[in-house]
Order: sequence, then C-alpha cells, then structure tokens
Amino acid sequence: MSLFHHKKKPSTDTIENGVKLVTALEPKNIVSEQFRTVRTNIDFSSVDTEIKTLLFTSSEVSEGKSTVSGNTAVAWAQQGKKVLFVDADLRRPTLNATFGLVNTQGLSTILANNEDYHSVLNESGVDNLTIITSGPVPPNPAELLNSNRMKNFLRSAENEYDLVILDVPPLLSVTDTQVLAANVDGVVLVVRQGVAQRAAVTRSKELLTMVHANLLGYVLNDVEPKNGYGYGYGYGYGYEGSLKG
Ligand SMILES: Nc1ncnc2c1ncn2[C@@H]1O[C@H](COP(=O)(O)OP(=O)(O)O)[C@@H](O)[C@H]1O
Ligand SMILES: [Mg+2]
Repeated sequence: MSLFHHKKKPSTDTIENGVKLVTALEPKNIVSEQFRTVRTNIDFSSVDTEIKTLLFTSSEVSEGKSTVSGNTAVAWAQQGKKVLFVDADLRRPTLNATFGLVNTQGLSTILANNEDYHSVLNESGVDNLTIITSGPVPPNPAELLNSNRMKNFLRSAENEYDLVILDVPPLLSVTDTQVLAANVDGVVLVVRQGVAQRAAVTRSKELLTMVHANLLGYVLNDVEPKNGYGYGYGYGYGYEGSLKG
C-alpha cells in the first residue's frame, strides 16, 4: 500500500490535550514495543558518532512528531538514559499539556532573557525524564531558535544529559527546524500515511541536505486504526527504501 495517499486535516487536539504516552501508561502494549524498536533502531543508526542531541520532525503538521518524540523519549528514559525532552515547537507547543505542566516559562523565556536553563526544568513523572516546555509563544521563534543562546543551551544540556530530544515544527512551513537540524547530532523524519505527500518528503530531505543535517532515518507512522482507540497502528522505522510506496 502506498504511504502517500489522501491529505488529512491538521489536528489541534494535542495542543489542548497533549499526546498519549502509551509507553508510560501501558509499557506492555504492542505499540509501546514498537516505540522500543524505534528507539533501538535509532541507537543502531549511528555507529560511529554518539548521538547526544536529536530532533524528530516531519514535512507537515499532525504527522505525529510530538507523539513519536514523546513516546520514544519515555522509552529511552525507561532504559535508564538520563533524557532531557525540550519543546522547541514554539508555534504549536504540546509538552505542557502532555505532562500537565504550566507553561508560563520555558525555552522561549530562557532564550529571550538569556537565562540559565536550570530554572525551567520540570519533572515529568517518568523516572530519568526531565522536561522543558516551550514557554509563551514568542513573536520571533525562528530568530530565537537560530541564536547562539540556543546553541549554547544545547551544548550545556548535552554535557548534563545522556540525550537531549527536541520536539520541533514541521520542515516545510517555517525555517525553525531547518536551522535546528544543523545544530543537533541527528534528525529523524516522521512520515505519516495519509498526510505526507511524496513531493513533500522529497523536499524535506532536500532542506535537510542543504544544511548538512545528519538524517538518521524515518519513522513511518502508519495510521490505519484497527480499533476505536487509535491503537493497533504500527510504527516502523526505516531508511529511504521503505518510503517507496
Ligand atoms: N499512529 C497514529 N494513530 C492515530 N493517531 C495518531 C497517530 N499518530 C499521531 N496521531 C494523532 O494525530 C494528531 C497529531 O499528532 P501529533 O503527535 O500532535 O503531531 P505533530 O506533532 O506532528 O503535529 C494527534 O491527535 C495524535 O494523537
Ligand atoms: Mg507537535
């Protein structure tokens, strides 16, 4: 079956309600097992360079970036890695809702005010997993994310954590992610069946190549719900060959 069919409407529900962390709530669920496989495959996709900073992105909104990055972050934390999960989607933030946190300060405030990030760390409720929410939506997200302050923040955080994971906006709508992709060790592209168009995925790859990003692989977010709860869908992880639908 082709991965590149009809376009679905972007959803806003995760901005209000957060994403479902099946890995934290139901570790024995088959979907949690799929996220652990995604985690393992990402671990294996970079043998020579250690990945300390990582972002999950996609071509368009609502392809599952926040769902996939959140669940994979939990899976790494459950494995014993000390993980910092940062909401760098300053336009459609979700981490505050997912983890039930207030968002009056976060990434945008430390970058705007040149503050130390230790003042905006939050516990997640999951062992080994620390959260930085987006902070209030700023007028200039791209500028903040492209700043030396952002680079310095990443460099300090990677010294303190085993893994720093960023949830970011989609590649094709704004420049935020292209800029960030150049400043992290690895990028994973989430491709959702029914949302991603083939041309969009190709364009995303070009944008990443342009900034010499290290594209580690793809998470195929295959949404064919087999029951009413949106469970039973599959998460696969692959390389370019797996995208030929
Ligand atoms: N595999 C999936 N099956 C069913 N629903 C999904 C799946 N992946 C994501 N969703 C839903 O799609 C919507 C958008 O997901 P989200 O992770 O917020 O995407 P993004 O961060 O890329 O905008 C949410 O309602 C989420 O619950
Ligand atoms: Mg999101």
